[in-house]
Amino acid sequence: MVDLHVLTGGDWLLWHEARIAALTDAPDAFKSALADWDKGGREQWGARLHIPGAHNVVALRDSHPVGVVRGVPADADTSELRSLWVSPQVRGEGVGERLVETVASWALRSGFTRLKLAVIPGNQPAIALYRRCGFVTTEERGDLLLDGETRERVMVRRLR
Ligand SMILES: CC(C)(COP(=O)(O)OP(=O)(O)OC[C@H]1O[C@@H](n2cnc3c(N)ncnc32)[C@H](O)[C@@H]1OP(=O)(O)O)[C@@H](O)C(=O)NCCC(=O)NCCS
Repeated sequence: MVDLHVLTGGDWLLWHEARIAALTDAPDAFKSALADWDKGGREQWGARLHIPGAHNVVALRDSHPVGVVRGVPADADTSELRSLWVSPQVRGEGVGERLVETVASWALRSGFTRLKLAVIPGNQPAIALYRRCGFVTTEERGDLLLDGETRERVMVRRLR
């Protein structure tokens, strides 16, 4: 049984555990590197969690994080879906879709009209999930990756 839990101020250790697990398990899926994140203590992790207006969610099984996602305001109309990860132990069971939908619901409730994300172009499982959840690829140029040539693919979902 996997439950979704919205992170609050006191949850920085859960956030820390989930994010380190994600960057360790799937380094190629994220622009951020484990080495950049795995430092600092409570204060630094708490600050990363507390982007104003953000919605941070972990998926828990037996009280341990098996997934994570963040919704972050970008501008008046647009919010961003970031940091999506599901543990290999529970992949293919719909947890990824539940995490995407919980951020989409938050974004809609918060008055945003678009939910945007950036994905590394070769990440087919993630791209398939995002398509299934209603995201389409845009013309927007994403950030340049470390190879200096490839750019992230930017996808967007209209919320209303
Ligand atoms: C991408 C990722 C988040 C998907 O998570 P997930 O929990 O496996 O996603 P879902 O289970 O919702 O969907 C995945 C597949 O399982 C299938 N599925 C969904 N519910 C299912 C169920 N109850 N039983 C069996 N299969 C199911 C879906 O149809 C989907 O199949 P597809 O291959 O045709 O798309 C996960 O693979 C991951 O964390 N990858 C590494 C990190 C990453 O790439 N993050 C994205 C960064 S942009």
